[in-house]
Amino acid sequence: MLAAVRSAAVLGIDAYDVTVEVDAALGLPQWTIVGLAAGAVKESRERVHSAIVNAGFTLPPRRVTVNLAPADTPKSGSAFDLPIALALLMATGQLARSAADGLTVVGELGLDGSIRPIRGALPLARHAARTPGETLVLPPANITEASLVTTVRLAALPELGPLVRALRDQLLPAAETPRPPNRARVADSVDFADVAGQAGAKRALEVAAAGGHNVLLIGPPGAGKTMLARRLPTILPVLSETETLDVIAVHSVAGVLASDDPLPPPRPFRSPHHTVSAAGLLGGGSAPRPGEVSLAHHGVLFLDELLEFPRSLLDALRQPLEDGRVVIARARRSVTFPARFTLIAATNPCPCGQAGDPRGACRCTPAVVARYQSRLSGPLADRIDVHVAVGAVPLRSLDPAAPGDSSATMRGRVDAARGIQHKRYDAMRSGHGITCNAHAPGRWLQAETPVAPRARELLVAAAERLALSARGYHRVLKVARTIADLEGDDMVGVPAVAEALRYRPAECGAVTLAGRRGADGAGAI
Ligand SMILES: Nc1ncnc2c1ncn2[C@@H]1O[C@H](COP(=O)(O)OP(=O)(O)OP(=O)(O)O)[C@@H](O)[C@H]1O
Ligand SMILES: [Mg+2]
Repeated sequence: MLAAVRSAAVLGIDAYDVTVEVDAALGLPQWTIVGLAAGAVKESRERVHSAIVNAGFTLPPRRVTVNLAPADTPKSGSAFDLPIALALLMATGQLARSAADGLTVVGELGLDGSIRPIRGALPLARHAARTPGETLVLPPANITEASLVTTVRLAALPELGPLVRALRDQLLPAAETPRPPNRARVADSVDFADVAGQAGAKRALEVAAAGGHNVLLIGPPGAGKTMLARRLPTILPVLSETETLDVIAVHSVAGVLASDDPLPPPRPFRSPHHTVSAAGLLGGGSAPRPGEVSLAHHGVLFLDELLEFPRSLLDALRQPLEDGRVVIARARRSVTFPARFTLIAATNPCPCGQAGDPRGACRCTPAVVARYQSRLSGPLADRIDVHVAVGAVPLRSLDPAAPGDSSATMRGRVDAARGIQHKRYDAMRSGHGITCNAHAPGRWLQAETPVAPRARELLVAAAERLALSARGYHRVLKVARTIADLEGDDMVGVPAVAEALRYRPAECGAVTLAGRRGADGAGAI
């Protein structure tokens, strides 16, 4: 007899329908599973068998064929255990074949019949919500996460036995959805007020946060680069509801959420070590999982000691930096994960860290410095809008009595500038989800941004002198737009363009400290 139960599978951070068909025919007892099932799905036979018997049902000797349709997409994971078990009970006459109408069923089975958590509950719930009246049956441990999608009915019973009885009685109770735990607005264990001096670097980070621009901090050891970078999330605006769900979806698919507290930090901040593998950074695996760039989606990717990362890895960052997503190519189907993050990188200018020191403290030969710096390829440097030299802080400015701006003060200005950008990009109705200047199309911004004539002259002259590419030109304009937004100016004036140009390295790929310095030792290159 043939039976079918609707299920769903995750692809990227979305999900698609999968129909689980089971045919239990007379013949020699055997079990075949078709429909491009990977290892964990194939093993479902043992779990389903034990769970059915231990839940008090029977398994008549039959030739069982399980088909996962559509048959041309690879299926992985253990979430099909539960729909397979229900379809098998239907096919062997122990459950009405209409019992699962209007249900999408996912869940892993334990040998004792318990229903165990799966990955990707949030994308699955978002998917089920698209079918009006659909109920998603899922493991109880996934309820908190799935209930972040408020428009779908959820049902969760802890074991196969009670679930089948509820389906027989047509009394499947809706799950009680816990209120998601409240989360502080920002992880405020750190604050920009902790950083003494470094006014130039703090200003650059404020500009970066206000416009979503990528930043490179360059300076000698102990200057406070790591300290500054770790404070960037404290001045970023809070995520919108959709952004929050996107972030949780990525973390859910990566399988890194705690089941009782599924909310990741308010803004992702990922800081992979330079020994990270390509799959760890960009995503990968036979059933592709998101990497660090995707876990940093809508947040910050911090690459400390940037030039210690293999150059091939840095070059691979160009695609996500440009497109805001990574495509993981597989023979049968490629998977796309979102990866729109703000990159903040920190590095010493040379192996000893002192290159450019005015007292000549650097012991590296020019060739060694050049080789070290050549690891930062031109195209990557070109995608980093804000280059900042972080000089050593003079000891006298490490005075706790005179702290600079706190994170709250800086965030207030960032929020105001972001508000202006939201209005701008809402009006543009791009439909591309653009929310900040860094992600706006350069040509659109060039056409739409009023620039004072003197400022335009300065920009054109500098572009010629610095031999800027068209992209470089647009990027300077974007940073200038952000600086004007911080001032509340509609027109981009000379000061905004001048400051934006200071954040641009004279020669992309050449990381030197030879440029201007601010009074406190920090300044733009
Ligand atoms: N501006 C500053 N204000 C207060 N403390 C500072 C400042 N700069 C550095 N420090 C102190 O020095 C420590 C080291 O700073 P940090 O690790 O950020 O340096 P770094 O520039 O990242 O060095 P490296 O190049 O070796 O990684 C900090 O933990 C902090 O205690
Ligand atoms: Mg450091």
